[in-house]
Amino acid sequence: SVLEMEVEQIKKGNYDHFMQKEIHEQPHSLTTTMRGRLKNNGVVLGGLKAHLKTIRHSRRIIFIGCGTSYNAALAARPLIEELSGIPVTMEIASDLLDRQGPIYRDATAVFVSQSGETADTLLALEYALKCGALCVGITNTVGSTLARKTHCGVHINAGCEIGVASTKAYTSQIIVMTMMALAIGADRTSSQTRSEAIAKNLSGLPGKVSEVLKLDNEMKDLAVSLIDTQSLLIFGRGYNYATAMEGALKVKEVALMHSEGLLAGEMKHGPLALVDETLPVIVIATRDDCFSKQQSVIQQLQARKGRLIIMCSEGDTSNVCPNESCRFIEVPQVEDCLQPVINIIPLQLLAYHLTVLRGHDVDQPRNLAKSVTTQ
Ligand code: G6P
Repeated sequence: SVLEMEVEQIKKGNYDHFMQKEIHEQPHSLTTTMRGRLKNNGVVLGGLKAHLKTIRHSRRIIFIGCGTSYNAALAARPLIEELSGIPVTMEIASDLLDRQGPIYRDATAVFVSQSGETADTLLALEYALKCGALCVGITNTVGSTLARKTHCGVHINAGCEIGVASTKAYTSQIIVMTMMALAIGADRTSSQTRSEAIAKNLSGLPGKVSEVLKLDNEMKDLAVSLIDTQSLLIFGRGYNYATAMEGALKVKEVALMHSEGLLAGEMKHGPLALVDETLPVIVIATRDDCFSKQQSVIQQLQARKGRLIIMCSEGDTSNVCPNESCRFIEVPQVEDCLQPVINIIPLQLLAYHLTVLRGHDVDQPRNLAKSVTTQ
């Protein structure tokens, strides 16, 4: 009805679409995610406190989710491993159920779901409960089935997300899992300096997100140049393996364009065969311990005349690619484990603009639902 349409427009404020609004809201949603949880002497997560000891003693941490929520866990995995010293494995909920993969009582199973109602994730939760694992929920929805059926958990407090393609929930999920890593590792003195650096960077992160959002017009220009391409590859590794996966998921979901997120370490084992002068390839090469490996990936892609778009740290273009043949996306540098929160934003903007330019429905992509409540 006309009234419903007007209410929709009011909720969108000055934006044309919910996805656009939610992308630009991220400095705020990240602030609310962290609110009251960062104290000068560390991180306080009320919903986990009583279970931290059990988590620290677990033999394995298993992350379980679907779609964007799975990718958020993938982004947080390296830090959880680093600060906890516990092996972390990843499970797509449906695949865990298909395999009935073994889970022991001394495992911590962490379920990640924006809605808290995804059928596969809830079935995997039932399975893990039966196996006797400690079950932790990470969700944006207070009172959801996930929140109710897990032993403990953390609300991401990102605010209501309406666009089917998840954006602000993704970055808030990463921040919650980063805080979780700090909380789990708080009893280990060996990582104290590192943890303090991360905590300090966390409070400055919303400001850095505002900075990277200024790339909006640049990403629109990039979208114009990619409007008719068949496919888009995104290479990442380390902390930004997840960024590549999530960036490609956004492009497929909303722009209805084929896109693959790839682990750069696997490039030579297949994907390199696809590279020619027509196929656009985004390489994530911001500064971290993987930087020199990404430099050599870039050299090899250039040798195959790849159409390169390189995401790099501000002021780093000449180090990343000495000749001027490629296009750059320059982003502010933050602590390595937080870089995925910054790096996904230009890709969210790119997916958004590609969708509008290609004339597709941004908030309700064809064939997809916000919450998949059937198997
Ligand atoms: C659907 C949505 C995705 C979402 C996934 C998991 O596929 O379209 O955007 O990432 O479900 O949803 P959840 O609510 O469990 O995070």
